[in-house]
Amino acid sequence: MWRWLRDELRHAILSGRLKRGTRMPSTRGLAQQYECARGTIVTAFGHLLDEGYLDTRKGAGTFVALALPEDLMPGPRARVAPAKRPSVAGLSKRGEATVTQVSILPASRSVGKAFRGWEPAIDLFPIDLWARLTARIARRAPRSFYGQGDARGHAPLRKAIAEYVGSARGVSCTPDHIVITAGAQQAFDLCARLLLDPGDAVCMEDPGYPGAASAFKSAGARIVDIPVDGEGLRVDRLFTHSGRIKALYTTPSNQFPLGVTMALNRRLQLLRWALERGVWIVEDEFDAEYRYFGRPVPALKSLDESGSVIYIGTFTKMLFTSLRLGFVVLPDSLVDAFAAARCVTDRHSPTLQQAVLAEFILEGHFGHHIRHMRQVYAERCEVLVEAVKGNLSGKLDVSMASSGMRTIGWLKTKEKDSVTAARARAAGLEVIGLSQFTRRNSLPGGLLLGFGGCPPGELRRGVDVLASIL
Ligand SMILES: Cc1ncc(COP(=O)(O)O)c(C=O)c1O
Repeated sequence: MWRWLRDELRHAILSGRLKRGTRMPSTRGLAQQYECARGTIVTAFGHLLDEGYLDTRKGAGTFVALALPEDLMPGPRARVAPAKRPSVAGLSKRGEATVTQVSILPASRSVGKAFRGWEPAIDLFPIDLWARLTARIARRAPRSFYGQGDARGHAPLRKAIAEYVGSARGVSCTPDHIVITAGAQQAFDLCARLLLDPGDAVCMEDPGYPGAASAFKSAGARIVDIPVDGEGLRVDRLFTHSGRIKALYTTPSNQFPLGVTMALNRRLQLLRWALERGVWIVEDEFDAEYRYFGRPVPALKSLDESGSVIYIGTFTKMLFTSLRLGFVVLPDSLVDAFAAARCVTDRHSPTLQQAVLAEFILEGHFGHHIRHMRQVYAERCEVLVEAVKGNLSGKLDVSMASSGMRTIGWLKTKEKDSVTAARARAAGLEVIGLSQFTRRNSLPGGLLLGFGGCPPGELRRGVDVLASIL
């Protein structure tokens, strides 16, 4: 109830129905209106206060904040556009679940801003090479490439991916196990469509990735939160959970957002649990390629002998965001179902774009780019760590990420991370508080700091601005 109320109020604020500076009704009045306990309203208000949507003025009550967290940030939170209306006449239950769960993402207007965490180094993507390949494919491709494509994806691309995941991620599969998707997000949606009925329970890491949660919730699924510690998902909690679970989503190579790697014994226990209980595991490897030290960890899928794991990879992080190409590696039994679902939703990804990507991989540019980016990201992370040490010591702790394109800056200050993040956004930084990704699990305050997509100068500038705020 409090979650519903919090979301409704947030929508009302974001869509302008509740204007900035408006005095909120009393918690007592709202409790009467909604016929619920006053504590429910107080909890919802508390969350909105923490998130920066509400403000209290001593003795005067609670108001809609004058500056909303979204104001200056084209990041994930700002992705809540006015179109996100909770009650649109005529929508189905699924439609309602979709509009209430999903934030509409605005287009990027710039690249490389500190500390954008969801984009790779677009500043260094080899655009000329990509343009040459695109022109070549467009001219030389057979006319059939301009006709109906394969719902499973362009065959040469599936072949190139099968070889790549085999050698780089230990996933042994053939091109026939692969279905190309429009990024990881479509893969989550296809999983939700095909595997989940309304009311089904899906386990997710807490803290975890809201993009996947929104796909599952739009299908009417219930999320069961499983905490994460230094060795990844607390698999022991799964064994003590008595209810029926239909699927489990996890990011074992680089936990989102904490960046921890799931220990081998947990991986084995997880697979055993999934097999015993008949649970689908959705493994999301969104940026596993970028590992800077420690032993490279093969994908969970590489240990899956029973066909419980659906492995999801995406080129939006490995190459560039707008490419919108990703893939799923599926157990035999699911391949046709995924192809059929793809037919229903959008037939297939654009063949010419897939052919360009296949060529990019087959000519060795992909491998080269990944190796180059691994080095660049490690350097950028070092720049961030050094700048924080020099400028923010005692206030923010950042250590070298072992993998990925972002890290957590652990706050040493007393302020809530949501409040610090809102102040940072007001100063033009793209920063998200760690608490935005937690549901039940309570963690120390932290800021999600992307470094991979940000050139060193911008990282240093960002740290200077953060220093002035902290
Ligand atoms: C955990 C996680 N998975 C997947 C993705 C990528 O999804 P997509 O390929 O749809 O852009 C992201 C992007 O930020 C992510 O953080």
